[in-house]
Amino acid sequence: MISVEVSKSSQFSLSISEIAPDKSISHRSAMFSMLANGTSEITNFLRAEDTMNSLEIVRNLGAKIEDDGVTIKITSNGIKEPSEILDCGNSGTGIRLFCGLLSSANGHFILTGDKYLRHRPMKRVTIPLRDIGAKLDGRNDSDLAPLSIRGASLKAFDYNSKIASAQVKSCMILAALRAEGVCTYTEPELSRDHTERMLKGMGANLHVDGLKTTINPMKELLSPLVIRVPADPSSAFFFAVAAAIIPNSNITLEGITLNETRIEAFKALERMGANITYETTDNKYEPIGNIHVKYAPLKAITVEDNIPWLIDELPALSIAFACADGVSVVKNAEELRVKESDRISTVVNGLRACGIEVEEVQDGYSVVGGELSKATVDSYGDHRIAMSFIIAGLRCGMSVTDLDCINTSFPNFFELLGKITEFSHSKLDLESN
Ligand code: S3P
Repeated sequence: MISVEVSKSSQFSLSISEIAPDKSISHRSAMFSMLANGTSEITNFLRAEDTMNSLEIVRNLGAKIEDDGVTIKITSNGIKEPSEILDCGNSGTGIRLFCGLLSSANGHFILTGDKYLRHRPMKRVTIPLRDIGAKLDGRNDSDLAPLSIRGASLKAFDYNSKIASAQVKSCMILAALRAEGVCTYTEPELSRDHTERMLKGMGANLHVDGLKTTINPMKELLSPLVIRVPADPSSAFFFAVAAAIIPNSNITLEGITLNETRIEAFKALERMGANITYETTDNKYEPIGNIHVKYAPLKAITVEDNIPWLIDELPALSIAFACADGVSVVKNAEELRVKESDRISTVVNGLRACGIEVEEVQDGYSVVGGELSKATVDSYGDHRIAMSFIIAGLRCGMSVTDLDCINTSFPNFFELLGKITEFSHSKLDLESN
């Protein structure tokens, strides 16, 4: 188990063009290539554990993958029954989207993941899929992985989801593409929309009207994807918080997707008083550009709207709350409890360890801004908790344990952190269970 000791940073001024490529878009690029009638070409694919697991699964499903280190070319010849168990590692996106893709494919498939993923809820996808005829099962009455799927024909559906989840939406859109008739999927609030944008770009006949997406089954294979994956705003946000909490600092984060369903945390940081500007430089599938963040004293805010648009950034935003003047409140965020860790309790535990007053409720928490102090914080195996508290360390020094998880989404995190401060790693030989 690796841990890190981070030193307090002084003011910095930086421009970073190497933020990790977007995780959501990378997963989808690999999976959607399976629906194309030729070779998809993906550059700047995220080479992190979660997305490399998806790529490996696509290979196990029979796709030919050529990788020259810059561009990954994926050629599919239809989904083939694999001889291997399909291991999604730590990734909820991986396992839930593959359920949608494989439910109608010919063959038998077993999807599993690491000890964290095997405890995350799957009924949100297995129930709607079973309702339309999918032959899918798993532990605990189909709620827990390993999941087994025997491809079957799927009925057309009109599904009203109670959860604003892009993973559930994407799973059902993938199922709809091969269902027996026109399907509709309605969500309670708009969640990230990469699936809709990318599939439309590939020629899928789907139509988005507010919260309702109508999907016509594929009559033929789609056009191949040709995509350069933009940088991940969720990864970039750690460095945005760094600039926002270290007086007189500023940072430019380059080549980030500026999709509005992904940059709400930057808007929240702006509401807190940070000086943030956006510059669009490109638009393919999504608007892409640079985000400039400049330090200014922070004030407390309440975050209760558009929660799906900043759900992944709430741990890092909470570090900014701890440095702000006043009491910040997070509401309507119960989904945080079923992420890579129960992020309400892991954020609350971490902040308390750093001497910050925090109150926990079922759907959120409140944070009394104050002075962070150096502590030893456990990541609980959750990459976003690990990186959030490392960033907190820029204010006061910090020791963070159990860091291997950072490789699931941001393998070059420490390389970039090194531009801001000094740190040292140590390896503890603990048996992981
Ligand atoms: C993701 C959707 C979100 C997000 C996750 C990635 C995706 O999960 O938290 O990190 O790529 O679709 P939910 O859809 O479960 O909210």
